[in-house]
Order: sequence, then C-alpha cells, then structure tokens
Amino acid sequence: MFITFEGGEGSGKSTQCKRLLARLTALRINAVATREPGGSPGAERIRQLLLDHGTERFTALAEVMLFYAARSEHLEKLIRPTLARGDWVVCDRFSDSTRAYQGLDGRVKESDLDIMDQFVVRDTKPDLTFLLDLPAAEGLKRAAKRRGDGAVDPFENQSLGYHVGLRGKFRALAGAEPDRWVIIDATETMDQIEEAIWQVVIDRFKARKGQV
Ligand code: TYD
Repeated sequence: MFITFEGGEGSGKSTQCKRLLARLTALRINAVATREPGGSPGAERIRQLLLDHGTERFTALAEVMLFYAARSEHLEKLIRPTLARGDWVVCDRFSDSTRAYQGLDGRVKESDLDIMDQFVVRDTKPDLTFLLDLPAAEGLKRAAKRRGDGAVDPFENQSLGYHVGLRGKFRALAGAEPDRWVIIDATETMDQIEEAIWQVVIDRFKARKGQV
C-alpha cells in the first residue's frame, strides 16, 4: 500500500507517519517512511532550495517545477522500487500538498497541475490519504512552538488567510475523492489519532486481502 499524510502546518503528520511505521513494523510488514519535498538524496537537495529560510519564494511555475523535480527523483529512486518489492510506503505529504499550496487561489492553474501530475506521478497514486485536519490558527501555533527560535520557512510564513484557505482546499480535495481520503480530527490527542489511523489501515488491509 502507498499511504500519504496531508494537512496544514503543525497538524502532526510527521509524528503519525512514525507511529504508523512502528505499528506496521511490529506486524512484520516491510514499510518505508519518507517525506516530501525530499525522500532521496537529490530530492533533499531540492528541498533545501525550496525551504531555504533566507530566500523569498520562487515564481509560481519555478516553484511547482522544483516540487515536481523532487517528486520525480523520489518516485524513481525510492517510492516505485519499494512498492515494486511489495513493501509499503508511508509518505509525509505528496501531490495533494502541491494541489493545496501551489494551487491555492489559482497561483498555478489546475490544468497545469494535472499535466505535471500525469507526467511525473503517472499511476503511482496513493491508495489511502489521511487528512490531519485542524483549525489553521491552532496549527500555526503548534508549528511556532515546535520551531522555537528557528527561522520560519516561506510556506509557513504566509498570512493566516492563506492557511485558512489551505485547510478549505485540503477538505475540498478530500471531499472530491472520498474513497481515497480519510479526514482525521487532528485536535484529538496523538494517541487517539494514532488509534483512529490504525483502525482505518487495518480495515483497508483486510478489505484488500479479501479481494485477492
Ligand atoms: P515541512 O517542514 O516538511 O513542513 P510540515 O512539517 O508542515 O510538513 O516543510 C514542507 C513545506 O513545503 C510545507 O510548508 C508545505 C510545503 N509544500 C508545498 O508547498 N508543496 C508541496 O508539494 C509539498 C510537498 C510541500
């Protein structure tokens, strides 16, 4: 299975990716946890370019092409080989983040995102996507706490209105593909969220085995 986690800033995706990986490993399911932008050495270098705190954002198309360049590397070097072995991939953010962050308010046209997705992702689409959903202001507060004195990246550093819009965009994406997405209330405790995610994964796994 190819499972992705999506959501705004401070929604707890990274923690839940690690916890899901630990649960899978405990069941002796071979799985790899990874993230975007990044996940392979070249893609991590592109990540540095995109998140470099000192620089302003690239122009819209340059930015989106960098995200897709990183994604292409990541798919070729890690995601596809892992899935081809029959192992699982758990990924912190994927194409839906581009739809939300770069697609918000038409910064990049939907039709351009469709083209890049067809070109790069092709049929390596997630089987299951969790949206860790929480109010934007709450997420930003958590992200600021986690960051401490560290510098803010150009995406987190957008207005509250942008982050409110992002939440709406993620929810709209989830609503448009209800078979793939599961919305999780990210205001719950980490343990409650972990359990809710695990129940969904187990159910999907059983359903899939039933089909085989
Ligand atoms: P990261 O520190 O991983 O943020 P988070 O912990 O919130 O996931 O930084 C990734 C940032 O990149 C995040 O602000 C979202 C942004 N992003 C995009 O704008 N487009 C994308 O396609 C992806 C994958 C991430």
